[in-house]
Amino acid sequence: MVPHLEIKDLHVQVEGKEIIKGINLTINAGEIHAIMGPNGSGKSTLANTLAGHPRYVVTQGDILYKGESILELGPDERAQKGIFLAFQYPMAIPGVTVANFLRTALNAKRKARANGDAKAISIPEFRKLLLKQMELLKLDPSFATRYINDGFSGGEKKRVEILQMAVLNPELAILDETDSGLDIDALRIVADGVNTLMNPNLGILLITHYQRILNYIKPHFIHVLVNGCLALSGGPELALQLEEKGYDWIRENGRDDCR
Ligand SMILES: Nc1ncnc2c1ncn2[C@@H]1O[C@H](COP(=O)(O)OP(=O)(O)OP(=O)(O)O)[C@@H](O)[C@H]1O
Ligand SMILES: [Mg+2]
Repeated sequence: MVPHLEIKDLHVQVEGKEIIKGINLTINAGEIHAIMGPNGSGKSTLANTLAGHPRYVVTQGDILYKGESILELGPDERAQKGIFLAFQYPMAIPGVTVANFLRTALNAKRKARANGDAKAISIPEFRKLLLKQMELLKLDPSFATRYINDGFSGGEKKRVEILQMAVLNPELAILDETDSGLDIDALRIVADGVNTLMNPNLGILLITHYQRILNYIKPHFIHVLVNGCLALSGGPELALQLEEKGYDWIRENGRDDCR
């Protein structure tokens, strides 16, 4: 079976500086991988690179999605292929409701999938889908008519992020969790959402600072990113070791040469 995501010897520069220094990582359908690591180690850089942000320049290596390189594809084309990125700092779009935003995103994806001749989802049909997903995620229906992320609390942004994932039904989800301002409820929202949406066709890359979230989501693999390299990979037990021993332990005992 072809893996959903294969990152091969990936090197990434931002503003002429090398931030990712040779990462190898494979994610299969049905797997949850967590990436942890200290501030500034390159976690968001990796997420943005996977999403195709133009500022992040791949200087070496490759990113394969279902066996095909996506390096030449723009962010919209990657999204249309089923890659979903939840940003660490989501944007507010005053004037655009959550429902409209999600319907537009879903229609763009459907259109691309059917080479442009798919019919847009009708408003009543979309409404039904949205309400179903909101119920599944235990979201209050009033969210649908609010302007996206405008004045949302940290927890509410997380709810919308997970709702967006539910509506778009991606095959690869990259969740970059923010390092501050999230209370335990927000962490649970993300965790419950991920657990509800997890299915055998979905691969998840969950970026987090928190060992705590891993009490609720059970990743199959944990990788520790230090200074642009995956210094250590292991099973769920690695999170507990990290909690106990901290990142200095990794710096002393992990690889630091990206090999
Ligand atoms: N757009 C950018 N312009 C300049 N430097 C950048 C840019 N994006 C990332 N960097 C630099 O790359 C390094 C890695 O940043 P990145 O945001 O990937 O770290 P992170 O692991 O996500 O950190 P955090 O845990 O704080 O979210 C930092 O030194 C950062 O300043
Ligand atoms: Mg980050």
